[in-house]
Amino acid sequence: MLINNWYVAAKSQQVNREKPLIVRMLGQNFVLYRTPEGEAVCLANTCCHRGGSIGRGELDGAGCIGCGYHGWKFNPQGRCVEIPALGKDAKIPKRARVDSYPVEEHFDWVWVFLGDLEEDERPRIPATEFPEYHDKENWRVVSMEFDADVNWARGHENSLDSAHPAFVHASFGRRSAPEVQIVPLVPNAFMGHNATRQRVPPKRSQISADIAKLVSEKRGKTTASTDSYLAGISHRIDITREGNIRQVTVSARTPVDPYNTRVFAHQARNYLLEEEHDEARREGIRRAYKEDLDVVATVEPKFVPRSMAHQLLVEADQMETAFRKVLIEKVKQGWEIDFDRLQDEGRFRHYSIPSPARRKDPKNWVHPVVPTTFPR
Ligand code: FES
Ligand SMILES: [Fe+2]
Repeated sequence: MLINNWYVAAKSQQVNREKPLIVRMLGQNFVLYRTPEGEAVCLANTCCHRGGSIGRGELDGAGCIGCGYHGWKFNPQGRCVEIPALGKDAKIPKRARVDSYPVEEHFDWVWVFLGDLEEDERPRIPATEFPEYHDKENWRVVSMEFDADVNWARGHENSLDSAHPAFVHASFGRRSAPEVQIVPLVPNAFMGHNATRQRVPPKRSQISADIAKLVSEKRGKTTASTDSYLAGISHRIDITREGNIRQVTVSARTPVDPYNTRVFAHQARNYLLEEEHDEARREGIRRAYKEDLDVVATVEPKFVPRSMAHQLLVEADQMETAFRKVLIEKVKQGWEIDFDRLQDEGRFRHYSIPSPARRKDPKNWVHPVVPTTFPR
C-alpha cells in the first residue's frame, strides 16, 4: 500500500457537522467531519494521549473534535487545544497533536491525501476528467460502493484488463472475439495511461433488456477508452457504441488494508436518461463487479508480484504492465508501507501515516511515521 497518494475516503454526504465518521484506509483509522463552515477535515484517529479513538468523541460546533476517551480537543490542523483534565488554562504540550491530512472534494467524493508531499509534488486528482458527471442535461449518473476482499492493486489491474471480459462477463464480453487490439499507450497527466481500443460488441441477446432495444443486431465496433490514474487508484472507462450511445464509468479503489478494498463508482450514460432505467444500470454494475471480484479473490498470490518475471504478462496486458511499472517506481521512491514491520512493531507503539506538517516540523510527534520498504 502506498502513502503519498490521494484516496477516496467517503462520499461527501457521509461527512457532516454533527457526527464524526471513522474510516479505515491503508490499515489505519482516520476520522472525518466538517467544520461549521462546511470544510471537510481528516485527522489520524488514534489519539496521541493514550491511543483512544478520537472519532468516538464529539464535535464542539466550533470546528474541533474532542477525543472519545478523555476529551482532549483537537482543531482541524490536528493541534490539541484543550486538555480537560488539566483545566482551562493548562499549557498544552507541543507533542499534543495528531496528523491532519489535505482534503478535496470531487464528484461528491471526499479525497484525502495520505502523505507528507508538498502540494506540487502530489499525484494529481483527475478532477477535470469526468465532465459528464456535471452535465445533468445530457447525462444520467448512478453511483455505487462495494467492499471487496481483494488487494487494491489486483483489483485495479482487473479494471484495466481488456482480455478478461470475453471469459468473465457473460453480458458484455464476446467469447468468440477474445482478441485484444494492441494500441500505443498514451501517458496521461495523472501518472497513468490511456488505451483506446476497438472491440467487437456483444450479441444483442447477451445484453440487458433496456439497452438492447437501442442497438441493432449487425452493428459496428465498440470503442473502449480506458484511462488509469494513480490518484485514488482510479480509472475512467468510456464505452461508445453505435449511434453514439455512451457509458462512462469512473471508479476509485481505496485500500482498507492489504487484503480489503473499498470501491467507489459512478457511471454516467447518455441514453435512457429517465430515473426508471437506473435500477437496470445498477444491476449491470453490480453483476459485473461481482463477476470481477469473484475472479480476483481467487488469484494467487494475493498481491501483485514484485518482479515482472514472476508472472507471464503478454502484449495484451499492456495497461496492467504500465500500471505495474508506475507502482514499482513509487515503491522505489519509498512510498510503500512495510506492513510486515508495522504489524510487528505496531503491537506496542502506534505508527502514523505522515502528513505535510511533519515536513516543516519532523520532531514533536508522539507517533512515529509508518516504516516503508525502501528508504524515502
Ligand atoms: S486517549 Fe484521547 S484523550 Fe485520552
Ligand atoms: Fe471485469
